[in-house]
Amino acid sequence: MFEQKKQVYIETYGCRMNVADSEVVLALLTNQGYEVTNRITEADIVLVNTCSVRENAERRVYGRLGAFKHLKKKKPEVIIGVLGCMAERLRTKLMGEKANGVGQIVDLIVGPDEYRKVPELVTKAWQGEKGIAVQLSRVETYDDITPLRTDGISAWISVMRGCDKFCTFCVVPFTRGRERSRSLESIVKEVAVLSSRGFKEVTLLGQNVNSYRDGEYDFADLLKAVAEIDRSIRVRFTTSHPQDMSDKLIETIATYPNLCKYIHLPVQSGSDRILELMNRTYDSAHYLLLVEKIRRAIPDVCLSTDIIVGFPTETEEDHERTLELMQEVQYDGAFMFKYSPREHTPAYKMHDGISDEVKTRRINEIIQLQNRISYKKNQQHVGETVQVLVEGESKKSSSEWHGRTDGNKTVIFPRRNFTIGDYINVTIQRANSATLFGMAEENIPKNVDVELPIEVAA
Ligand code: SAH
Ligand code: SF4
Ligand code: F3S
Repeated sequence: MFEQKKQVYIETYGCRMNVADSEVVLALLTNQGYEVTNRITEADIVLVNTCSVRENAERRVYGRLGAFKHLKKKKPEVIIGVLGCMAERLRTKLMGEKANGVGQIVDLIVGPDEYRKVPELVTKAWQGEKGIAVQLSRVETYDDITPLRTDGISAWISVMRGCDKFCTFCVVPFTRGRERSRSLESIVKEVAVLSSRGFKEVTLLGQNVNSYRDGEYDFADLLKAVAEIDRSIRVRFTTSHPQDMSDKLIETIATYPNLCKYIHLPVQSGSDRILELMNRTYDSAHYLLLVEKIRRAIPDVCLSTDIIVGFPTETEEDHERTLELMQEVQYDGAFMFKYSPREHTPAYKMHDGISDEVKTRRINEIIQLQNRISYKKNQQHVGETVQVLVEGESKKSSSEWHGRTDGNKTVIFPRRNFTIGDYINVTIQRANSATLFGMAEENIPKNVDVELPIEVAA
């Protein structure tokens, strides 16, 4: 008799690496005959891929697990699994009685390097056996697994895993283990397949992509190889660590038109004393020189950053240094966070001493400053005609669509008869600190405006 396939539902929190990992997990499960559902009520397996980077991130997941308790009450046969960085960090705690009362409902706990075991652990869970797999690996890259991507135009490709930087505030080296890279060949093959499926943008992912290495190939070689596959595909990457951003990498980005002129370069703080305590391995002078070098080589580059306020012992003076550095760099955008102490990290043992009130005031100050800078920078685009990749309907109105510029700025424009994946010219008419608004001029035939210069096209 025809048997209904088991349905799997997955919710993903945290960074893009987790989004890419969830696609690997879904590939592993669908290869075993499971089917993906977007509706949690229809699911036989409910998975949550988690993040530990800040306390808030963990709190949200505990909240979700609390909600899953009701689900399990109604449907006791449903399997609940916790994947990702919290699985790695909290392990048995999550299955214990004390895990905010959610321990009883969790059937499997799988860390980021053990996803191959998910199908087997699910099978065991059907038989009533709870499972934990949280070994970290020095070699696992899931190189041979084609992630299950829904059709679209943008794909996230994990090119390396882990992190060896050990910034003193960060859990990632503990939850993701040591750095390791996928082979250049397998990444190139994956991008070629995405190109044939009509994808128009790929983002190469790693906690520190500048450490990418496959034999003699470094990250610049990988970017060049990926850029050459299909010139109508935009290539982005994240994240670069300011310590080891090479001249070769900057030149490569400058040379290839389809390597987006957008660099996310987290600075974390403008104070050298704090940068040292964070073990960031660069000082503000090195960082500013790097920015200057990047801007000289790529004049129209857009830059963004991550900043933490309220790191242990941060004084008003240290905070001022951060504001000054932001003024000096003039970032196009920034992700700003209050320091969140994480158990077992070196910073956890440093005296915190900074009250939440002070952290709140400092973060508000940097947010306000960044908003003013972003507003000013976005005003400079008014009157300009920019190339936009059409991505879909705007959130606010079905008669308007949105897309992004090469520099990663969101643009809203009237819909007309464009299709998702078109490159179009938009003349910017107004802007606020987050978005550009404009009129689309015409459809540019694909592949035309993104030709490579002759010397590298050969
Ligand atoms: N590998 C990336 C960052 C990954 S985590 C890099 O080094 O650039 C993303 C951001 O979260 C970090 O850049 C940092 O700004 C922030 N972050 C990490 N740990 C944090 C903590 N304990 N408290 C607050 N913010 C944190
Ligand atoms: Fe964390 Fe630092 Fe590694 Fe980024 S580079 S993941 S902040 S340890
Ligand atoms: Fe979070 Fe893990 Fe990413 S801690 S930020 S999901 S690597």
